Amino acid sequence: MTDTQTITIFDTTLRDGEQSPGASMNLTEKLEIAHALVDLGVDVIEAGFPIASPGDFEAVSEISKRVQGATICGLARCSDGDIDRAWESLKEAERARIHVFLATSAIHRQFKLKMDKDEIIARAVGGVKRAVGYCDDVEFSPEDAARTEPDFLCAVVKAAIDAGATTVNIPDTVGYATPAHMGKVIKTLVDRVPNIDRAVISVHCHNDLGLAVANSLAAVENGAGQIECTINGIGERAGNCSLEEIVMALRTRRDYYDHDTRINTQRLVPTSRLVSSVTGLQVQRNKAIVGRNAFAHEAGIHQDGMLKEPTTYEIMRPKDVGFTKTDLVLGKHSGRAALADRARSLGYHLADEQLKTVFAEFKKLADKKKEIYDGDLTALIEQQLYDVPDEAWSLVSFSVQSGTGEQPRVRLTLRHGDRDVTEEMSTGDGPIDAAFLTTEKITGIKLLCKDFRVRAATLGRDAQGEVTLDVEHEGKLHRGRGVSTDTVEATVKAILNAVNRIVMTTEGTSRAGDR
Ligand code: KIV
Ligand code: ZN
Repeated sequence: MTDTQTITIFDTTLRDGEQSPGASMNLTEKLEIAHALVDLGVDVIEAGFPIASPGDFEAVSEISKRVQGATICGLARCSDGDIDRAWESLKEAERARIHVFLATSAIHRQFKLKMDKDEIIARAVGGVKRAVGYCDDVEFSPEDAARTEPDFLCAVVKAAIDAGATTVNIPDTVGYATPAHMGKVIKTLVDRVPNIDRAVISVHCHNDLGLAVANSLAAVENGAGQIECTINGIGERAGNCSLEEIVMALRTRRDYYDHDTRINTQRLVPTSRLVSSVTGLQVQRNKAIVGRNAFAHEAGIHQDGMLKEPTTYEIMRPKDVGFTKTDLVLGKHSGRAALADRARSLGYHLADEQLKTVFAEFKKLADKKKEIYDGDLTALIEQQLYDVPDEAWSLVSFSVQSGTGEQPRVRLTLRHGDRDVTEEMSTGDGPIDAAFLTTEKITGIKLLCKDFRVRAATLGRDAQGEVTLDVEHEGKLHRGRGVSTDTVEATVKAILNAVNRIVMTTEGTSRAGDR
């Protein structure tokens, strides 16, 4: 049943991608990304691992209820509790898929599962059958398939298809395969599994050797009909196959692969930016397809060729992947409809309440800055998405004093409920350190700063500063983000954003992020 023309794109940004250290997302962020993935044209969205936590369950349920236009998938181990919980979260989806997995390699059988081959087959069959009892779209993954003995892999895959799996996914869980190896694994299944024509073969490659995209292409050449991938290639360790790279490889080299996807490639750059901003995982400048330098020609000889005929040095056009030439958007007199329209074309789905808040912030910014660019608007919208609803702590005012030979001082007034609390701290280490110390003093929450990044949202000296930081609190990592034309204010906002996420997590609210 493998479609020889159109490859199914299975996006796992919200599941495997979220397993990148520090990339956990809250419910609002996950919903925003899920909507963006539909706009991008992915076929399947793996929305989470419902048994993993109440937050994951809620995210899969809400995405199932609210996101139409793609199959929504939930991950489960081959155990009754996992599968029942997965279905519970998926049952309201327009189209649902249960994805069950069980490790099959000798290493995993011996050390992790302590099960023999017969027990593995029986457990896999049991899992697939239970899932089929709920839903007719069931995917089975033999975890660590690339390191599984070929005969045993064929036996497990055959049994899973007999039990009703409609997709069999072949993971290279530890990123061990090379293209020739991965191609051979898929070819072996095509040649030796007698019922393979009753399922779509899928591939799920990790990038530990930097080969995830190449391995996925080799799988397609040998009969895979589905590719599992993530935006910007995020995921466990070195990540997964990058969606934008595999899609553009298939499209650009259609002459060779004769396969395409349903992806709207002009949404690649906006979706990449959204995921980067939400997860705090920055895209390297020279990243293929979506990096800032991906289409920048530096050498004179190249520039000359480009001016004469772009195809001399360009195999794809920037506009095909969603880079736009001009991004001057709005000014002081722009109205709410113009802002909503621009937000929409940048890939955001703002609810009325969110639009109201962003518009208010936009007006404040327009008083400070004459021209508002896409980058400014993106920063405002994402700050809104990042904000914790009913935040415990908010900034009333701040002042900083710093100079050569002076001890930096930060004075903060924070609101907590209906109380304003003011503190002033000085420290030898600088205003950022002082801002952390003052916040800790007021809130009583200890913060260990693990990462701190400042970025200009747009070009120009009047650009907004965007601060993203990771803090550790009681052994857990939390992200914070703040935006302002004043970098110290952006820092204080980012610290408070992290504090509010900590409070939200420790108070046990039913949000998906910061696990
Ligand atoms: O890498 C892996 O094996 C996985 C499975 C759950 C598909 O993510
Ligand atoms: Zn994986």
